[in-house]
Amino acid sequence: MQKNIAVVGAGYVGIVSGACFAKLGSNVICVDVDEKKVESINKGKAPIYELDLDEILSSYRDRIHATIDYKSAIEGSEITFVCVGTPSLKDGGIDLSYVKQVVKNIGRILKDIDKWHDVVIKSTVLPGTSQNILLPILEKYSEKKAGKDFGLSMNPEFLREGTAAYDFLNPDRIVIGSFDNKSKEVLKKLYSDFDCPIIETSLSAAEMIKYASNCFLGTKISFINEIGNFCKEIGVDTYEVADGVGLDKRIGRAFLNSGIGWGGSCFPKDINALICWAKQNGYSSKILDDVVKVNDIQPLKLVELLKKHIPNLKGKKIGVLGLAFKPNTDDIRESRAIPIILKLTEEGAQIKVYDPKAMDNFKQQFPNIKIHYCSSADEVLGSDAVLITTIWDEFKNLDYSGKIVIDGRRLEKAKSAKIYEGVCW
Ligand code: UDX
Ligand code: UDX
Repeated sequence: MQKNIAVVGAGYVGIVSGACFAKLGSNVICVDVDEKKVESINKGKAPIYELDLDEILSSYRDRIHATIDYKSAIEGSEITFVCVGTPSLKDGGIDLSYVKQVVKNIGRILKDIDKWHDVVIKSTVLPGTSQNILLPILEKYSEKKAGKDFGLSMNPEFLREGTAAYDFLNPDRIVIGSFDNKSKEVLKKLYSDFDCPIIETSLSAAEMIKYASNCFLGTKISFINEIGNFCKEIGVDTYEVADGVGLDKRIGRAFLNSGIGWGGSCFPKDINALICWAKQNGYSSKILDDVVKVNDIQPLKLVELLKKHIPNLKGKKIGVLGLAFKPNTDDIRESRAIPIILKLTEEGAQIKVYDPKAMDNFKQQFPNIKIHYCSSADEVLGSDAVLITTIWDEFKNLDYSGKIVIDGRRLEKAKSAKIYEGVCW
């Protein structure tokens, strides 16, 4: 079902959602404060690296544009998606300032619009936020009533970085949390081309589905890492255990890859945010606290294993293959390579790193750490030992023979090393 759509916030969620809505036939106008992003989109160029995004943007240039001007974008649309970031605060909670500012701007514009308009929150916000914080702001600044003069829905995204366009177009489910029936019907029509289940629920339940999903995925990984730490003690390969466990349809093999743990901009942010939210509401999380604790120790297990073979790291050349939090992205947010490199620095090692995409970001974030940035993966192999922290395709064809390799991510080819140790296998 085609619509005129405004998307506020052209980050990896906003631009991917907007591009995919355009691909499905809607007219999309993205709004962003970052003029470079606006310019890039209007040239049909993706402002971020995401698989297929460039191709989609250039193929549907007639249906997707960008602007810094809220008013023209929202007045010319029937639905406005809010996709600005919700970064973590120091206490683990989320910074709602961007979302609140955007919703205030939308409210002010709705005041002068005399036709029905749907506001859809896609940004990840904690349970109760849309109902208790964003809805009152919209009503206050529009001087109108939700459900009567405008609609409010919450439609979370389940996009993985690097495959976000694929994930948008091939969802397992679509979650529509609505304040009112009219806005629910509008979104159901918008998503009517998809053949997956559509969950119709409340605003708060939709918010909780997003957090519960990410928290469960993080829990599943920390679970297999705990089992992996037991397996390592008894010389069992956790991947064989995961294969056996994962065949149970109630469990599933996905997200049972043990290793040095989860990073990225979402799992750490969302899991810590729900823990913080629980505490602020007088509930105490137990499982989630330990999920984070297991994840925090996992990278250091790789250094402990290294020290089994080279007890004194001072002055030793230690190679690190991979800086991005996962392959096919340049994103180093909460990358597991960070605590590993900080620990190696503490131990006085001479660190040599290589990552095909993430070295610039690493240099930018850690300008003061003494690291030798190599120009190739092969150069890293000229070390006393090599740690595998991200599995890029190009690491799969290196010659590890004669080397000491400590593997945090399961690189099969590295098993040919003179000495090979896996963190959980
Ligand atoms: C998304 C979701 O919005 C967030 O809730 C989820 O937790 C992670 O994924 P993301 O797309 O990664 O966030 O956000 P980001 O990459 O920071 O992009 C947000 C965009 O909004 C940026 O381009 C920023 O310039 C823009 N923005 C931010 C505005 O246009 N206006 C603002 O007031 C703030
Ligand atoms: C995640 C969720 O998958 C996605 O649904 C949500 O919308 C955003 O957060 P993302 O963070 O982009 O997506 O990456 P993902 O592929 O989930 O990996 C997250 C981290 O978990 C990575 O550091 C990865 O290395 C790690 N991981 C993943 C494991 O350690 N083991 C696994 O089995 C899977």
